[in-house]
Amino acid sequence: MSDTIQAIRGMSDVLPDQAPLWEWFEDTVRGWLRDYGYRNMRLPIVEKTELFVRSIGEVTDIVEKEMYTFVDHLNGESLTLRPEGTASCVRAALQHNLLYAGPQRVYYTGPMFRHERPQKGRYRQFHQVGVEALGLPGPDVDAEHMAMCARLWRRLELDGIRLEINTLGSPESRARYRARLVKYLESRFDELDEDGRRRIHANPLRVLDSKNPALQPLIGAAPRLYDDLDEDSLKHFEALQTILRALDIEYEIRPRLVRGLDYYNHTVFEWSTDRLGAQAAVCAGGRYDGLIAQLGGKPAPGCGFAMGVERLLALLSEPERAQPPATPPDAYLAHSGAGTERHAWRMAEALRDAGLAVILHCGGGSFKSQLRKADASGARFAVIVGEAEAAAERVAVKPLRELGEQVTVSLAGAVEMLQAGRPGLAGRR
Ligand code: HAM
Repeated sequence: MSDTIQAIRGMSDVLPDQAPLWEWFEDTVRGWLRDYGYRNMRLPIVEKTELFVRSIGEVTDIVEKEMYTFVDHLNGESLTLRPEGTASCVRAALQHNLLYAGPQRVYYTGPMFRHERPQKGRYRQFHQVGVEALGLPGPDVDAEHMAMCARLWRRLELDGIRLEINTLGSPESRARYRARLVKYLESRFDELDEDGRRRIHANPLRVLDSKNPALQPLIGAAPRLYDDLDEDSLKHFEALQTILRALDIEYEIRPRLVRGLDYYNHTVFEWSTDRLGAQAAVCAGGRYDGLIAQLGGKPAPGCGFAMGVERLLALLSEPERAQPPATPPDAYLAHSGAGTERHAWRMAEALRDAGLAVILHCGGGSFKSQLRKADASGARFAVIVGEAEAAAERVAVKPLRELGEQVTVSLAGAVEMLQAGRPGLAGRR
């Protein structure tokens, strides 16, 4: 039996054959974010545990059950692998006083960690593209986020991704609703499951987010937050919808959409698809006007969203879709014979100086076996250095993908041949 070490369950490798799709997605996303004026931030993967407890909320699935938390043995501090990026983003904005310069439109990408039960579309290490607008009260920027997503789905040529929106209202209207909901849940205490009973006072809204099928009738009959909304909350929600309609963005109001993180108020939204089974949400977010103050900053509004990269890539790699081409090298440089190495190394570097991608054969072997490798590499040309070429300070160039004779040329001649007919960086379709 093999004793090779395997990756941790729910944490995947991205192999070279899969990388072109990831890279194409990342390039598309970078261009899209630039088009809307969002600037990149790079945030640590590990943060103090308290950051997530204070922002996501103590009585949430993420904080109660899903965080990778450990003690730094040098100082006894509790640290956590980030389960999401909003908390870190706000922490960094406050630490570096970014809001002093005015509102900020920023984004971050990278791995997040949640100790969930792995299944299709749900992983323990997964990747997000997170987008945040700090210091803008909305609802225009809430709508901007939804319009951005709609545009990205078009650029990715993904259809069938539905937008669902809801409002959680202002903190005051939520407090009124909370009191009504607690009363209702108390009246049906016997029907609740263990989680529901525990959350009834600590975080009653989370009961509405339960996936337990037995609780669905009880959840369906629960009082609606909408009925407790104050005028400002209604205005915000209606203004958002006016913009969505003006932009022809289709949406559905889902009154039970509460989200799994506690920092939201007013607008919340989710984009989901029917094509991924139970893990339907590909992107989700909302407004968090209290979070900046909650993390010690001067009160300022915020809103944002994050996409699940693996889920979007699962849609992008469906069999009927054309996949982005791998980018093969321009040339594979084969060399053999006494004293040819020095010339081969120098030629490979000189071709790269001219902007060409070159694999230099390493490890010796006959020309025949090297040319087999050149073919397998996908390179358009083999550049060959034997004793005669080395002595004449020239190279032989052999087309591998099209008809044509092998010719012996100077370095400048080789550069010209390799650059001619070089495929552009066109899209993948
Ligand atoms: P979230 O809904 O927890 O929100 O995650 C956003 C997206 O990340 C989900 O819609 C899903 O696509 C993906 N995702 C979450 N968990 C997993 C998992 N275990 N495996 C694969 N994909 C997953 C947030 O994280 C908020 N920070 C979003 C936000 C930004 N709100 C305001 N700003």
